[in-house]
Amino acid sequence: MTKRNTALKSSVPPARPKRLPRYTSYPTALEFGPLDAGTHDKWLKTLPICEPVSLYFHIPFCEKLCWFCGCFTTISNKYDPVEKFLETLKQEIRQTAVKTGRLHVSHIHFGGGSPSMLKPDDFLSLMDVVAECYNLDHVNEFAIEIDPRTVDRDKINAYAKAGVNRVSLGIQDFNENTQQSINRIQPVSLIERVMTDFKDAGITKINFDLVYGLPYQTVETISQTIEQTLKFNPGRIALFGYAHVPHIKKHQALVGKHKLPEQKERQAQFDHASDMLRASGYRAIGLDHFALPDDHLFVTYDARELKRNFQGYTEDRADTLLGFGPSAISSLPDGYAQNVPMIKDYMDKISSGQSAVVRGLSIVADDKMFRDIISTLMCYFEVNPTEIAAKHNIAYDFSREISDLEKLVHAGFMMCDQGLYKITPAGKPFLRAIATVFDQYFDQSTDIIERCIHESEG
Ligand SMILES: C[S@@+](CC[C@H](N)C(=O)[O-])C[C@H]1O[C@@H](n2cnc3c(N)ncnc32)[C@H](O)[C@@H]1O
Ligand code: SF4
Repeated sequence: MTKRNTALKSSVPPARPKRLPRYTSYPTALEFGPLDAGTHDKWLKTLPICEPVSLYFHIPFCEKLCWFCGCFTTISNKYDPVEKFLETLKQEIRQTAVKTGRLHVSHIHFGGGSPSMLKPDDFLSLMDVVAECYNLDHVNEFAIEIDPRTVDRDKINAYAKAGVNRVSLGIQDFNENTQQSINRIQPVSLIERVMTDFKDAGITKINFDLVYGLPYQTVETISQTIEQTLKFNPGRIALFGYAHVPHIKKHQALVGKHKLPEQKERQAQFDHASDMLRASGYRAIGLDHFALPDDHLFVTYDARELKRNFQGYTEDRADTLLGFGPSAISSLPDGYAQNVPMIKDYMDKISSGQSAVVRGLSIVADDKMFRDIISTLMCYFEVNPTEIAAKHNIAYDFSREISDLEKLVHAGFMMCDQGLYKITPAGKPFLRAIATVFDQYFDQSTDIIERCIHESEG
């Protein structure tokens, strides 16, 4: 069995990675290389017509820049570029559907950027094109990411009319100093109004996105934000650690001007928030999610059907995700394919009838097995690698991986019961580092214990 860790074979050790992957996919997007559109087209044309797929639409526009933002987005005070972009997006949807046929859809997700920037009629007209190209008769979940500052009653009514049944509200933090430091002011009264409008429109599945590790956040301010959050009773909460990467996202230097909480303080903020949420009936799910018992994520978790995708944790069971829009990633049975990130390049390619795919990776049987292993660890904090290999019909020699797991057992970060390796409470903060044990593309030259303790989780 050939290992794909080229780093191990190289005579020059590669630079040690600064950040650990979040494993929203495996192999991660860091491993993507040039991918020709012909390969992607072949993957699309061989999708089984009877299998449902998920659709992701990336809307790369926001009205105002949040200085902490790590997403692919562009600031536009004018609506003209958004209108032009939407026409191109419709063209991409039609071009792709010619290759896939009119597949059934189980999940739809609008992300960005801020999909809530779209005018109600534009959103509905986009959905008309989606419905013309794909069969939307059995959509389980239709979710959209909302910047509460850009949504109003007319937009919310349009979402309800289109069938949206879940919204993620970008809350981040209720603390005023923190909001100012990230250039994102949104008072509690705004969230109250938006929550009421969604409920009035019959959209009751609400997620809150919260962020810890931002300027001026302390355990005390986080407690206040969680207390305020609990009053709104969202079914699902994502509690993200602030990823500070000013070398990639230059505007984050404006956040870096303030003092950022150290790693120990960040962990204390997360632990405290997690304790408060769990004491109030939420269940912790994976790395950073919390759900109430009546939320479907909780049910999926219990049924051991939870999966990881580019949006984080999901109940979506489709094997194929088709991504549309600049930077969007598609996950297909044969591999990953990512669209060009710049809006102009995307528009040029699609308008001239070409595919927007530029990067990606074809995946082999070993990758699928390791994806299953890493996803199980990321979702359930435990894994039996041999059992998963047997499920994939692969006779794999895990001696290197087991030797690392045994070191983790010795350090008290894991325990082992008849081949099942479980992460202990002491090891939970190192979930991402522990998952790297199975990442065949990750530079394994640093000792696993050192990796746990020293690698940043940004
Ligand atoms: C695309 S945004 C959501 C929609 C909308 N644009 C908004 O901000 O309300 C998705 C979420 O990613 C999270 N996020 C963005 N940048 C981040 C960063 N640098 N570190 C951690 N989380 C981040 C925020 O919680 C944000 O709400
Ligand atoms: S956090 Fe959301 S609203 Fe703010 S710039 Fe990023 S994508 Fe736009």
